[in-house]
Amino acid sequence: MPKVHNYSAGPCILPQEVLQQAAEAVVNFNDLNLSLLEISHRSKDFVEVMENARALVKELLDVPEGYQVLFLQGGASLGFLIAAYNFLPMGEKAAYINTGTWSDKAIKEAQRLGDVIEVASSKEKNYSYIPSGFGIPNDAKYLHYTSNNTIFGTQFKTTPVSRIPLICDMSSDIFSKKINVADFDLIYAGAQKNMGPAGTTLYIVKESALGKTGNNIPAMLDLQTHIKKDSMFNTPPVYPIYVSMLNLQWLKKNGGVSWIENINNQKAELLYNEIDRNSLFEGVTAKADRSNMNATFVLKDESLTEEFNKVWNAANISGIKGHRSAGGYRASMYNALPLESVQVLVDVMKDLEKKRS
Ligand SMILES: Cc1ncc(COP(=O)(O)O)c(C=O)c1O
Repeated sequence: MPKVHNYSAGPCILPQEVLQQAAEAVVNFNDLNLSLLEISHRSKDFVEVMENARALVKELLDVPEGYQVLFLQGGASLGFLIAAYNFLPMGEKAAYINTGTWSDKAIKEAQRLGDVIEVASSKEKNYSYIPSGFGIPNDAKYLHYTSNNTIFGTQFKTTPVSRIPLICDMSSDIFSKKINVADFDLIYAGAQKNMGPAGTTLYIVKESALGKTGNNIPAMLDLQTHIKKDSMFNTPPVYPIYVSMLNLQWLKKNGGVSWIENINNQKAELLYNEIDRNSLFEGVTAKADRSNMNATFVLKDESLTEEFNKVWNAANISGIKGHRSAGGYRASMYNALPLESVQVLVDVMKDLEKKRS
């Protein structure tokens, strides 16, 4: 089978060896002659998976004492509501930075509980930059932001400075670069980019910050419920958690987050240099705020669209069409995408320019 250069924005590329191990476990898990899909989540074998997955998150992200790691369901979309229920007392204020569709959705969910102050937004320029220099009200219960704007292709290069607790949706850049977990009261992330397949959502929460809202939180939305039950209050999504564990093992074995951060920097540099150099293309976001995970760009002359689409398809490149709300192209360069795949795309762009000159 020819190699496909998979630039899908999520669910996305996973390492081939992880997929192979994952496939094996569907048929015969841990040599039990049983599928992982047909054993109890309370069996010793699965409890070990859960414990390993949690330990890997702690090790790879250097999670300090006092934080809990949970694998839940509902995607980051439920995380928007879980964040608000657990940190925003009914009717009080929360501060949000609006850097794209996902922040916007997070804001709408928080508005169900309290008064959302949008402290900064890049909406007026189609979310093409990361706002800076904004004030944060002292009486807001927390500041929420989205570390990587998956759709429009911007990324916070540093953690916003905040005197109030920080909550972050890290769905599309967690495990791609070093972070300081102690800066946050809550981090949440859907698995389907750099952690594993869709179906589980990671929560890293400062335990001492919970239980303070006085909200009547539905059991499934209450992070304390899940902490008490070790992420097994209800049947956990066993397969996504297992594949996430395999993927995190892959990351650890190869050198961990600093190893992948270095490669991710190289991939982004290679592609953005070509976007800037090539006379046929241009980037659509502020250079300083460009995402290392999702590079967005357009053809300067749209009449070349068909020809460009033909050549990247012929080079076995998949998934670089921009999101329907952003248009153009989006090359998602998550952890498992090798540098060589980026080189293939860059070569295709160079060839097109040569042909046209
Ligand atoms: C940054 C970000 N937040 C939230 C979401 C929504 O995640 P889910 O589909 O897991 O609910 C996505 C999905 O791509 C995302 O990229």
